[in-house]
Amino acid sequence: MEQRRYSIAVLGGTGPQGTGLALRLAAAGHDLTIGSREAERARAVAAELTARVGKTIQGSDNRSAAQGGEIVFLTVPYAVQRGTVEGVLDVLHGKILVDTTVPLIPPKVGTVQLPRGQSAVAAIQQLAGSAVRVVSAFQNVSAQHLNELDHPVNCDVLVCGDDRPACDSVIGLCADIGLRGFYAGPIANSAAAEALTSVLITINRRYKIAGAGIRITGLLKP
Ligand SMILES: NC(=O)c1ccc[n+]([C@@H]2O[C@H](COP(=O)([O-])OP(=O)(O)OC[C@H]3O[C@@H](n4cnc5c(N)ncnc54)[C@H](OP(=O)(O)O)[C@@H]3O)[C@@H](O)[C@H]2O)c1
Repeated sequence: MEQRRYSIAVLGGTGPQGTGLALRLAAAGHDLTIGSREAERARAVAAELTARVGKTIQGSDNRSAAQGGEIVFLTVPYAVQRGTVEGVLDVLHGKILVDTTVPLIPPKVGTVQLPRGQSAVAAIQQLAGSAVRVVSAFQNVSAQHLNELDHPVNCDVLVCGDDRPACDSVIGLCADIGLRGFYAGPIANSAAAEALTSVLITINRRYKIAGAGIRITGLLKP
């Protein structure tokens, strides 16, 4: 089946997770715009990424990026996740918002600290309501590996959301960048993916791994 080409915005796309996803998605043929609080910073980083991937990546302020994207990724720290979404909520209606947020609370980032025992991404679905198709994904994929374009990323992706077709679209994006995405349940299940990241951080530290990931086993067809 022919791959659909999307206009994709990455809010907070100047950080490592955003740049890694933007690079991989652009390399797969999608049209990327990275967003920042400062349009100038976004343009500067976008120029660097363009040089690396050999395909134009645009840069703009977060709001303009969200406005132009058919699919919008959110890659900002947990502390500013809600505020960033609130600032663009009116332009997200009808769109897929792929939230990669992990509710890490420094300094104990190796310890699970879910907000009131719940999920950071589910809270965004509650904030946005049904008008925004929130999908939780990529919490367990290391930015370091995403940014190293010379090798495939050795990790599976847990994809959670209440809107199944939206989850399927994100699973398709995973496939476009060489990853296996797995539907992992409703948005409430994002809590498990978010919590797992602190487990992986602990494993990274204990075993001196650059970016541990997860694999789903037992599939009849790999
Ligand atoms: N790093 C990883 O390996 C990894 C893996 C899985 C999931 N994640 C998740 O992905 C998200 C981004 O991770 P990251 O490591 O790329 O984060 P980061 O570098 O700390 O921040 C990403 C971007 O967010 C923006 N930002 C930072 N502070 C802000 C503030 N006070 N207000 C508004 N925007 C702010 C910045 O963009 P501007 O200054 O340009 O606005 C920054 O470049 C996090 O939620 C993280 O949990 C990360």
